Amino acid sequence: MFRKLITTLLATSLITLSLTGCGGKSSKDNLVGVAMPTQSLQRWNQDGANMKAALEAKGYQVDLQYANNDVNTQVQQLENMITKGCKVLVIASIDGSAITDVLSKAEKNKVQVIAYDRLIMQSPNVSYYATFDNFKVGVIQGQYIEEKLGLKEGKGPFNLEVFGGSPDDNNATFFYNGAISILKPYIDSGKLVVPSGQTDFTTVAIQGWDSAKAQARMDTLITAKYANGEKLDVVLSPNDSLAIGIVASLKNAGYGTGGKTYPIITGQDCDKPNVMAMINDQQSMSIFKDTRTLASKVVEMVDALLQGKEAPVNDTKTYDNGTKVVPSFLCDPVYADKTNYKEILIDSGYYKEDDLK
Ligand code: BGC
Repeated sequence: MFRKLITTLLATSLITLSLTGCGGKSSKDNLVGVAMPTQSLQRWNQDGANMKAALEAKGYQVDLQYANNDVNTQVQQLENMITKGCKVLVIASIDGSAITDVLSKAEKNKVQVIAYDRLIMQSPNVSYYATFDNFKVGVIQGQYIEEKLGLKEGKGPFNLEVFGGSPDDNNATFFYNGAISILKPYIDSGKLVVPSGQTDFTTVAIQGWDSAKAQARMDTLITAKYANGEKLDVVLSPNDSLAIGIVASLKNAGYGTGGKTYPIITGQDCDKPNVMAMINDQQSMSIFKDTRTLASKVVEMVDALLQGKEAPVNDTKTYDNGTKVVPSFLCDPVYADKTNYKEILIDSGYYKEDDLK
């Protein structure tokens, strides 16, 4: 009987220990909420997994949630994280301007906030922003087009169509402005011709970064402007989910067969299907944003916030969210294409050769 009692007591205290973590600290003391937009794109799965692993390696408990690209779901998830007692929220927002209310609730509960990859707009309750240099992403895409077409050497004219990202994502205009800063002089001089005439951001933007919507817009462009053998030389696509839709549309229109090669198509994220599309000569390049680097920067920010210290930042001017300029750390993007993807993606351990088969 006595023995049984001791065993029961021991078991109970073991359970209590494992529930509260070492040193009797309640798990809430180091709980970090990580809110990601969607699992439908590979990059966010990678981001979520990296963040979780990096935080756990530092002894944090992690509540990781994905919101299926639905703003209300994300708001609900953030509410739950606050209720559960998270000390810091790391948020990749779906609509940067739609979480102001829930963030004032966070503030009232002394929960600190880091904007992950996408800036959170219209809220003073954002301590830091960690991202890749979004303008530079667009510049690299523009320069790739410039180089591959030989625009600097005066070649042309070439036919171009332009796509933009989701208008509710602050990053989208940065990508667009960066790329257009390189391409505009050639559009102005007539070396790049846009047969649809559609170049301004509002007209070319694709809501929700939706592949199907990009495919539908490309279908319309083909029917209107390329149905009689006109050549499409280049498509500026800001990211990989749009590139997927654009390639699908072009494939249906006969590109990739009978000597009809795909135009130059840009992208971003180096999602696996897109790297495979690069290997198969459908997509030309994709910006590589090493999410491991981003995760390690964000962990530094979490540490700093919880220890009442300042986190290292490298930009205190660019990212004004409408209420304040958010101190930011910008990581450096690079591009991968068929010629260098092994070095950039496989030698770096980001993917295994088998992932791309
Ligand atoms: C990210 C891109 C991503 C896009 C769509 C942007 O905010 O910076 O990497 O492709 O969202 O998810």
